[in-house]
Amino acid sequence: MTLKIAILGSTGSIGTNALRVIDALDSGYEVTALTAHRNVDLLAQQIEKYAPKVVAVADPDAARNLQARLGDHRVEILTGSEGLTAIAEEGEIDIVLTAVVGAAGLPSALAAARAGKRLAIANKEPLVTAGELLTRTAKAHGCTLLPVDSEHSAVFQALLAGNPDEVERIILTGSGGPFRKCTPQDLDHVTREEALAHPTWTMGPKITIDSATMMNKALEIIEAHWLFDLPVAQIEVLIHPESIIHSLVEFVDGSLVAQLGHPDMCLPIQYALTYPRRLKGVSKHLRLEELGQMTFESPNLETFRALPLAYEVARAGGTAPAVFNAANEVAVHAFLTGKIKFTGILELVEHCLDKHDIKTDVSLEGLLDADAWARDQAQRRVERTRADRAPVKG
Ligand SMILES: NC(=O)c1ccc[n+]([C@@H]2O[C@H](COP(=O)([O-])OP(=O)(O)OC[C@H]3O[C@@H](n4cnc5c(N)ncnc54)[C@H](OP(=O)(O)O)[C@@H]3O)[C@@H](O)[C@H]2O)c1
Repeated sequence: MTLKIAILGSTGSIGTNALRVIDALDSGYEVTALTAHRNVDLLAQQIEKYAPKVVAVADPDAARNLQARLGDHRVEILTGSEGLTAIAEEGEIDIVLTAVVGAAGLPSALAAARAGKRLAIANKEPLVTAGELLTRTAKAHGCTLLPVDSEHSAVFQALLAGNPDEVERIILTGSGGPFRKCTPQDLDHVTREEALAHPTWTMGPKITIDSATMMNKALEIIEAHWLFDLPVAQIEVLIHPESIIHSLVEFVDGSLVAQLGHPDMCLPIQYALTYPRRLKGVSKHLRLEELGQMTFESPNLETFRALPLAYEVARAGGTAPAVFNAANEVAVHAFLTGKIKFTGILELVEHCLDKHDIKTDVSLEGLLDADAWARDQAQRRVERTRADRAPVKG
């Protein structure tokens, strides 16, 4: 039987790796739908190669551009966030791989859950913003939620070694990013190029900056809390600069079960597509004797304030995680476009959380309101900071 796959965010780092995985899996998987935000050059190449039935382009101008370029090509072109949602719930699609970046992927992830799809989820921000809603919807509609994030895929695999009530804690590993050895003061002069130079992983710009602030690990704590239905007190972070052990589960008898591999997203992507089977794929096999040694250390909580903040936010619950995520998205964009300093990212997130009056309404509307409030709050603060920094004319 051929499984029909939709890749939401096919032009990104995860999306293009997913297509490499599918290329290597021979038959059995058919690329039926693809989506992008604006990169219609790459999307047009993907349409040429994979001949999907339908594509969606979130940006309406880019969608018109694609339409003009393709002429009377047979592919159906949808547009806007609704276009992604329509694909996610399309009847003939078996697997939805969501590799969109940011909370923009929430409506389509929810639609796939509601439609009872197999949902391979790389897009962590919807799980942070709306983890309770998304996991509850998935459960209610028979949607199999499969983690693609390497740490969560590792935990998912390690959990197969025992029963849920035998888990003592899960240990999420992280490389520590480019500033692992830095003091808080060292971060004052970090440049965009330095922050984008991740030591072990090649990824899209947003997650690369999140890795540099360790906000990525912070988001992953909340993501793990929802995916594995565990209190955050049972979720720990361990720095492992080589990024070989992708995470571990400690069971009550003291056994630590880990999943290892080269830092290559193709492996967790492939496992989410082939689960519960394991097939030969593109990932290079790891030889431990070539590696020699692995090192571990505790995270520096003074330099990486995002980590303790994630526990506070998860415990606060309600709309707090939505604000945490949305403020960070605005802050990362502001940093990447030169509007704030690297240290301004965490300051902005903390500012929005301080100002936020946490609500317990975790309906989609309630969460989208909180997300919009945080974006507005963060944007205004960015503009105010810029105005304050602007040179005064004499
Ligand atoms: N990269 C990794 O190795 C990795 C590892 C673990 C988890 N993740 C998670 O996977 C997700 C994707 O990461 P990535 O690194 O692949 O990101 P990326 O390279 O920036 O790609 C993002 C994808 O989403 C599309 N997109 C962006 N904004 C959108 C919007 N508003 N509406 C609809 N589509 C939109 C982009 O389209 P355009 O190309 O047209 O802009 C692109 O296809 C993130 O949540 C990230 O945290 C990534």
